[in-house]
Amino acid sequence: MIPQAFIQDLVARVDIVDLIQKYVPLKKAGANYQACCPFHSEKSPSFTVSPTKQFYHCFGCGAHGTAVGFLMEYAGFGFIDAIKDLAQQIGVAVPEEGPAFSGPSREQQRSLIDVMTDAAQYYRDQLKNSPRAVDYLKRRGLTGEIAARFGIGYAPNEWQGLADQFKQYDDEVLSEAGLVITNEAGRRYDRFRDRIMFPILDQRGNVIAFGGRVIDQGEPKYLNSPETPLFEKGRELYGLSQARIAIRETDTVIVVEGYMDVVALAQFGVGNAVATLGTATTPTHVQKLLRQASRLVFCFDGDKAGRKAARRGLDAALAHLADDKTVAFLFLPEEHDPDSYVREHGADAFQAAAQQATPLGRFLLDALAEECELGTAEGRAKLVHLAKESIPKVSAPVLRMQLVRELAHAAQLSPEETAQALGLAAPPKPPTGRFGDRKAPPPLPRAPVAPFVQKLLRLLLARPELGSRVPFDLLACLPETSERDAVIAIMDAGEDGQLIGASLGVWFEHFRDSACAPAIATAMRSIQEGLVNDDRVEDELTDTLRRLELLSLENEIKTLTGSLIRPEDQAYLQQLFAKKQKLKSGQPV
Ligand code: GTP
Ligand code: MN
Repeated sequence: MIPQAFIQDLVARVDIVDLIQKYVPLKKAGANYQACCPFHSEKSPSFTVSPTKQFYHCFGCGAHGTAVGFLMEYAGFGFIDAIKDLAQQIGVAVPEEGPAFSGPSREQQRSLIDVMTDAAQYYRDQLKNSPRAVDYLKRRGLTGEIAARFGIGYAPNEWQGLADQFKQYDDEVLSEAGLVITNEAGRRYDRFRDRIMFPILDQRGNVIAFGGRVIDQGEPKYLNSPETPLFEKGRELYGLSQARIAIRETDTVIVVEGYMDVVALAQFGVGNAVATLGTATTPTHVQKLLRQASRLVFCFDGDKAGRKAARRGLDAALAHLADDKTVAFLFLPEEHDPDSYVREHGADAFQAAAQQATPLGRFLLDALAEECELGTAEGRAKLVHLAKESIPKVSAPVLRMQLVRELAHAAQLSPEETAQALGLAAPPKPPTGRFGDRKAPPPLPRAPVAPFVQKLLRLLLARPELGSRVPFDLLACLPETSERDAVIAIMDAGEDGQLIGASLGVWFEHFRDSACAPAIATAMRSIQEGLVNDDRVEDELTDTLRRLELLSLENEIKTLTGSLIRPEDQAYLQQLFAKKQKLKSGQPV
């Protein structure tokens, strides 16, 4: 866990304009900066970055966030990695509660990346000198353009070819990078010889590893870089950096098995494919990809190995499912892989097949049923037994319920019996809210107050120090919406004074993982769109509070007059009427 205070401090110290400028050319426009949005295609700039708010916002597609959010959206980092990256950029160490972070140091990473970049350049140059390698790529149907886009190169058939590129061939960093191997006799030689070289990039576009294919026949067919401080196979995906825009535009990512599959698909216009690196799909892969797209399609060969790989993909996906995400499985005809399929049938046929891929739930239930004799009681019991391994792991609650129901149907049990057999608890009771044990006035109906609560939230986010002016009783009678909870959370956070005066971006990050994050994001967006007039925040707050109190009073009066009034309530009702009069005429109460 990275301490909250560090994150707040970091977001306050990083300049979002500097950061985004590194990726997207920004132009000054008044108090803000502008560019064509990197998250959707457009001709005129609607992407703005505010240095005072430390926030970016696109009026075209609605993308928005802080420096942290930008790295996550643009470069596909996870939250922790985005924080680490920002910390590195301003040269501070990330403190950790718990086990120390034992990653490579910044200098070490930097020099490894430099070495890999130079090596990639060398391999690319060598490709131009090798008619044999060029001929091989041509025979496989690659255009020069696509080879250049993926930075494909060639490692010549020499023991110390890299010595041409690196003056100090015995520099340790070359072995650390996995480019050079030392044998028992202490002799050093290039790992990759006479191979087509595929550079593997990280999310920022740095070369972090290579995959090398033999030309024509030979063993091993593919040779990958070993794991290094830059390269962890279970986290990286081939082609992700190149696929970023296409993934965003289609909101879909296709996972295939091979380098050549990614390259061929891209050449035919299917730009949103990535490949695992000769390893099974890991949960980290799935998590990384589902952060960037809401649909994930695994595409496997139709053979037995492909089905096995699909099962592993399924297992990796279970814990990262969400009800607004879909994961599906596409099995190609047995004689094909994506490369040969797209070359023979074209991109449209491939896309259509991907569109009709089997949804995860169906695939899971079919795979389980395949192993059981459903005509017998024993077989149906086995089905439930096997399902216990997977269904409880499904992290999407609605999908999980549906799977339980379908499983129940197949097992000839009731959904309750099935849930119980799977060890799934009854749905949890709603938690008691902050006002659970407090006798609150009758709650206001949602609809008429909604715009006022939203406004209240906007105003407080613009000026959190005004939270002390919001009466607690008023909050208690507001309906329990996420906007109301966000207001309360801002007041809570503001009470200790720590965040007062922080930029909006810092506030935004403060609420990242909380239940009110969506309400806060919406409010931020409307602030960005100019719905809050900085000069009038206090007046507007007074007005909004007055309106809310008026609604609350009217509500209470209605409740009281709607019941049989006891004598002692008469006086109280009179008070309420008087208060209402005052509020209406704008007098202080
Ligand atoms: P092409 O034959 O060039 O079309 O490659 P392919 O991708 O169709 O090959 P295949 O289906 O045999 O392998 C799929 C992926 O598994 C490859 O892209 C590699 O990442 C990996 N792979 C295949 N063979 C080897 C190997 O011998 N060693 C390692 N480490 N990985 C391999
Ligand atoms: Mn192939």
